[in-house]
Parts: sequence; structure tokens; C-alpha cells
Amino acid sequence: MAAPGVLFVTAGGERGGAETVLLTLLRHLDRARFRPVVCCLATGPFEAELARLPGLEVTAAPIRGIRHVPSGWRAIARLRALVRERAIAVVHSNGTGAHLYGSVAARIERVPAVFHAHDLLGGGWSGQGLVNAVARRLPAAAVVTPSRFLARTLEGRVRAPVRTIPNGLDAPAGTAAAVPAPRTGRTVVWCGRLQRWKGAHVFLEAAAQVRRARPETRFVVVGGTLFGLDAGYAQELGAQATALGLSDVMRFTGHLDDPTPELAAADLVVHSAIRPEPFGLVIVEAMLAGKAVVASAEGGPAEIVEPGTTGLLVPPGDPDALARAMMVLLDDNGRRTAMGQAGLARARERFAAAAMARSFERLYADLQEAGVVRPREDEDA
Ligand code: GLC
Repeated sequence: MAAPGVLFVTAGGERGGAETVLLTLLRHLDRARFRPVVCCLATGPFEAELARLPGLEVTAAPIRGIRHVPSGWRAIARLRALVRERAIAVVHSNGTGAHLYGSVAARIERVPAVFHAHDLLGGGWSGQGLVNAVARRLPAAAVVTPSRFLARTLEGRVRAPVRTIPNGLDAPAGTAAAVPAPRTGRTVVWCGRLQRWKGAHVFLEAAAQVRRARPETRFVVVGGTLFGLDAGYAQELGAQATALGLSDVMRFTGHLDDPTPELAAADLVVHSAIRPEPFGLVIVEAMLAGKAVVASAEGGPAEIVEPGTTGLLVPPGDPDALARAMMVLLDDNGRRTAMGQAGLARARERFAAAAMARSFERLYADLQEAGVVRPREDEDA
């Protein structure tokens, strides 16, 4: 008998962390057990990237913004047709936007829906707040979060059992050797989407302090505006770098689908979100590149970084504390290198792509057999 189908719904047209996780899952899914079909609700480079995965059926049902009701209904009709025609057993929506449509199509076609949440689902009267409120109330057979932190924010606020499956990533080839050759100046890399809450401005303030004390240090900001969010922020950062006198020591790369080369060239990687990061995929990417990490001490990063062993955690939004932690590690080559190696081992053990795929396969199988999610302590531990 042919393997049952899983319909993956994605609303991201560009590659952010959630999209990287989806690509990784699709690469590692055991196709003898589950046959993936993908439907993109946004056109853009990410759709093209999916289409390059071998042997994967990728279809599109573009939505013209959340307020455009006709394209929304067309997308739901397309998803429903895919469920019927491709013998879909489970609909897996990757992210909040995708769940709005995936959930409705799955409910009408009476197949279980998995809501793979990647973001905080706070309320409020903003457009996103209303979308979040709707997404929380839509039917799902299971809600999956990449961190226990995100699970805790959702338990009792969504209409389905919440299960944590940590994000998994592939180790890029040759990372173990990616310790930069010794030289005088060190390079500190910040990586993420240029959106205010991700806190690149805090990194800039800390960089200015580090620069005064360690003038040979270089800084790189890897990332760009994505999904049209906080479009003015990138420019503000440029102005801030100039005002802080960092222009000659700070480089902005813009968005990179694959930040691996920049991470591999770093001596230290910094994450400085000013609100709890749901997961923090870039931290795992840095660990897989064998780097020590300084990160904000809350949300997903506090579950990923083992303070004192793979990096340091600092209070969010505190450039003084961040600068101090950066200097402690910049000044200690031995400790920094050891932390990078410990981080690589931890990332391979805790955030392996194959383990993530096996967990999702078990979830799909449970849903298929019983229509319910069985508690699994091994994953939630
Ligand atoms: C979103 C979250 C980020 C997470 C990623 C993958 O981009 O903001 O914290 O790492 O999804 O789950």
C-alpha cells in the first residue's frame, strides 16, 4: 500500500527559521512511512527552494494578504482538493499564518490538523494579535512547539494537546574544523531577522563598549528584513552604527539564506532578543558551527544554551551585561573554544534533524491510528 500523505502548508515566502525547520523536516522525513506534499500560500524564493528538493510535490495557492478573503477561500479549496486527491492523512501547518487555512481545510475534510507553532501567540488589538487569537481557537488535533517555553505559553490557551518537538538541524559539512586560525582581532557575529524585538540594536550598543576596550574587535550583523516586518529597522541600525562610530568595524551582510560561512568565520556568536525568543534557531546553527554563544536568558535560548558550558546567558536588553560577557569570552581563547566544542556536541545530541523527523512521524502515526495525541514523556522531558 502507498504511504499515507502528509500535506505541509507554509505561508512564508522567504526563508526564516520556521522555513529552515520545514526544509530540514522534509529532507529527513521517511518517505516510506509518509509521503509529503507541500502547498505554499506565498510566492517567493522559499517556494523555489522547496521545489528543488528531489521527489517532492510542491504546489502553490498564493494568498493576497490575510484580508483578501477570495484568495483565502481559494487556498482552502485547493488544500481540500489536495487532501482528497493525494490521500492525505494529516495536515501539518508550519506556523500561524499557515494554520489559519490548513486548519479549516482539515476540519472540512475530516483529517487531523497539526499546528506547528513557531511564534508567540499573544493577543491584543493589532492585526497580528487578532490573527493569533483566531489561530489559537481554530481546531487542531495537536499543537507542536519547538521549545518547552513556547509550550508553556500555549497550554490551556489552545484547543489541543501541546507537545514539544525540539527543532532539528543538519550539521553543515566540515564544521568540526571551523575554529578560526589565531589572529589578533576577533570577530563577533550577530545573526537574525532585522526586527526590533530580535534586539540587534542592543548588540550595537554592546559592540560600541567592546570596541572601546578591545579596539581590534570586528562585528558582523547577518540578517535582513523578512516578511515585511519592521521595514524601517534595518535603516535605523545603519544610522545607529554610524552614530556609535562603529562604521569602520561593523559589517552588515543583509539577509542570507545560509548564514553558515559567516558563523564559521566567527569567534563568538551573539543573540540579543529583548523579548522571549520562541526557540532561537540561529543559536543551534552557531553551535553546529562550533561556536560559543552569548544569548538572552529567557525563552528558547535558555533551553538551548548551557550556561558556563556552551556559552553565557545575560539579562535581555542590557548592553552593559552583554558587553561584559562578550569580553570575558573574547579574552579567553581556551574557554571559548571549549564552549564551542561542547556546543557542537550538545547540538548534535539534542537538536538532530533525524530525531525531529522521527518525532513527527510518531505524531502522525498516533493521529492516524487513534486520532489523538498520546503523551510521550521522552519528548517532553
Ligand atoms: C521563528 C521564531 C524563532 C524560531 C524559528 C524556528 O522564527 O521567532 O525563535 O527559532 O521560528 O522555530
